[in-house]
Amino acid sequence: MAEKRAPAPFPEPWRVKSVEPIRLISRPERERALTAAGYNVFRLSSDDVFVDLLTDSGTSAMSAEQWAALQAGDEAYAGARNWTSLDEAVRRVTGYDHVIPVHQGRGAETVYTRAFVDEGDFVIGNMHFDTTRAHIYNRGAWPVNLVIDAGLDPDDPAPFKGNLDVERAERFIGERGAPQIPLCILTITSNTNGGQPVSLENAREVAELCRRHGIRLLLDAARFAENAYLVKEREPGMQDRSVPDIAREFFALADGAAMSAKKDALVNVGGWLAFRSEDDYLEARKWAVLYEGFLTYGGMAGRDLQALAVGLVEGTDERYLAARIRQVRAFAELLADSGVPIVKPPGGHAVVVDAGRFLAHLPRERYQAESLAAALYLEAGVRSVGLGALAFAEMDPDTKAVMFPDWEYLRLAVPRRVYSDNHLAYVAESLARLYDKREEIPGLRLVEAPLDLPHFTAVFEPVG
Ligand code: F0G
Repeated sequence: MAEKRAPAPFPEPWRVKSVEPIRLISRPERERALTAAGYNVFRLSSDDVFVDLLTDSGTSAMSAEQWAALQAGDEAYAGARNWTSLDEAVRRVTGYDHVIPVHQGRGAETVYTRAFVDEGDFVIGNMHFDTTRAHIYNRGAWPVNLVIDAGLDPDDPAPFKGNLDVERAERFIGERGAPQIPLCILTITSNTNGGQPVSLENAREVAELCRRHGIRLLLDAARFAENAYLVKEREPGMQDRSVPDIAREFFALADGAAMSAKKDALVNVGGWLAFRSEDDYLEARKWAVLYEGFLTYGGMAGRDLQALAVGLVEGTDERYLAARIRQVRAFAELLADSGVPIVKPPGGHAVVVDAGRFLAHLPRERYQAESLAAALYLEAGVRSVGLGALAFAEMDPDTKAVMFPDWEYLRLAVPRRVYSDNHLAYVAESLARLYDKREEIPGLRLVEAPLDLPHFTAVFEPVG
């Protein structure tokens, strides 16, 4: 058998200018911190965390050019010149004519669900992320996930596990009727199953379906650049196209897009909403002014608009994306090589551990994903996030029965340009050690949690 060769070195196309110390507190200190946090890693102080893989959202390291952009902030209430920069950048990247700034992704969700979704409606999509679902529920409507079956099978090696199952969508539209479905949201990449990409071919089919039934198609473009990069790598015939060109075709297929810029636009805060049609824009605009702020700042400071305008373009740089995707993939390989059950192949921004399989000795009512997150923190001071029964339990629209989702995942999200391969090797080794003694990991009992987005503030206690 051929020996496995170490991959060729792939240096990042940037160097570090400024560093931020991090500290691993002792095991007894971690125990005290986790107990005080009600065994919920969201409630930990970040000073008590060593390597923080809770999220890739708002945690990027900005470039020198972005930091310089902050100094160019024009803090006028209306018509700041930074707004012009952002408006131009979004038009250039998307091709849409009508742009609305928002303070972050859920600001866009508040606006577009208020504008287009009514009580009793269904909003279809590949896989709605947690805040998107919550906003749909908040309008008295129902989120419907129609991802392909492979998307929910951790072992299926399919390259585009974020694809929407067009046949199932067609059947669903036939059953419920298009007038009750105001929106289809294609989330690129699909966050819930680990940043799995959507193929351009699938986006074309979804666009055709939506056009035929008169359903508005919006992209959740939080990670559109990583999606376009994975399309370039994996989709036949795409290798000679540029990432911005591929991204542009995705936008051209949809009626509009919402972006939490805290991901692929490499900023710590910000977002936007953009539309092709003036009518959609005018409808959304009313609510944007009410909820987010005037149309030339949308809840952001002028300096934030400027850093976002720079980051949006920087985020589509192929050399940066190559380094980014390579790092996530190498991290996934370390985990897979040590037998930790992960979702394969890895997607764009995270490695997802199959917590259901990792903690197969625990029942789902013991919140395997959150139990593993707590155990990993105690073991190594590493913060991750549970994406399973707690975050994604659903209510059946007809019977109102509560249903657990098909997946029970622990997400290790990789912040952009922040951690070295060494940090990630430390995480992989800690998790492998935990895997060897997995039967000793106790489950958690839910003590209290709100109905909406329960995972953010839930309180647990360990059992057994
Ligand atoms: N859409 C997607 C696909 C997301 O991943 C998120 C946030 C949002 C919308 C909401 O954006 O946080 O700026 O309000 N995801 C973060 C995460 C929180 O950890 O994956 P936001």
